[in-house]
Amino acid sequence: MRRAKITIIGAGNVGATCAHWCAAAELGDVILLDVPQTENMPKGKALDLMQASPIMGYDSALSGTNDYADTANSDVVVITAGIARKPGMSRDDLLSTNAKIVSSVAEQVKTSSPNAVVIVVSNPLDAMVQRAFQVLGFPSHRVIGQAGVLDTARFRAFIAMELGVSVEDVSAMLMGGHGDTMVPIASCTSVGGIPVSQLIPDARMAEIVQRTRDGGAEIVSLLKTGSAYYAPAAATAQMVEAIVRDKKRLIPVAALCDKEYSVGGYYVGVPVILGSKGVEKIIELSLNSSEQAAFQKSVDAVKSLVATMETLLKG
Ligand code: NAI
Ligand code: 2OP
Repeated sequence: MRRAKITIIGAGNVGATCAHWCAAAELGDVILLDVPQTENMPKGKALDLMQASPIMGYDSALSGTNDYADTANSDVVVITAGIARKPGMSRDDLLSTNAKIVSSVAEQVKTSSPNAVVIVVSNPLDAMVQRAFQVLGFPSHRVIGQAGVLDTARFRAFIAMELGVSVEDVSAMLMGGHGDTMVPIASCTSVGGIPVSQLIPDARMAEIVQRTRDGGAEIVSLLKTGSAYYAPAAATAQMVEAIVRDKKRLIPVAALCDKEYSVGGYYVGVPVILGSKGVEKIIELSLNSSEQAAFQKSVDAVKSLVATMETLLKG
């Protein structure tokens, strides 16, 4: 059977770590691509990971390149190209620079891998995935963004830390944009099947929700030199796995919502079924009035971000 061809654009912290997780899980052969100015850096990282494979026992071929020809006909393309946050910067501060980078990357992917499922990771995520969709011209089910798996994982980790239980027993769902307005869905959060409201008082849950919203900034303030990459890369690898193994995972991803949740043609985080075709179904939850209001606020923030991006790109 042919192994999946997985291209990761941007061989920086998130890209290289994602290559590591994908190779270690034997999801396919992995190609790391970065700009020519980085010269042989992607080749060096790929070779280093290849040399780890006999020790760790994974059969995945890894290679690095500056040339899209080497990525031709990839099954999955992950876009991590762009600049990352430094202390004091919000994700939105990255908007102008990364919109141009993601546009140029998407132009290349459009012709080099016309049948790929594309996962955008670059920030600000909701605007970048919208931009990639505009440039790629692929059907929307093959263009998605990674944010919800990471944000949900942070929420699950904080709940497990609070209760002193296994992270495996914490199940949760988060919706909306990848920013300060993300919406944890309390009614979908449980521990060992027990609604979290029976285990953690509301006031403490509110603090955990806020820590989750600030999860990216907390890591930036600790690292000082960049933003999180282990968990973001693991989240992205989980999406790659859902696609290449046709797992039909029910997970939150940034998907194009039109009539769904009455969003009107924007990418926002929603629960979907993710398989080999990309988004196979968007799940429409019935939200209570406060969840609905919070989701609408998040959608409005995404719309405003996209409008700013479009103005910047015209200017
Ligand atoms: P990094 O700076 O370590 O790596 C970025 C890489 O992109 C660099 O190697 C750079 O040379 C490369 N690059 C820049 N322009 C390029 C182009 N036109 N073509 C190919 N490669 C190009 O940054 P890091 O930490 O890997 O973050 C990458 C992006 O992912 C950032 O925008 C960051 O904010 C975002 N991010 C998103 C998350 C999410 O949940 N959606 C989570 C973590 C990071
Ligand atoms: C994060 O949430 C920076 O978006 C990135 O860590």
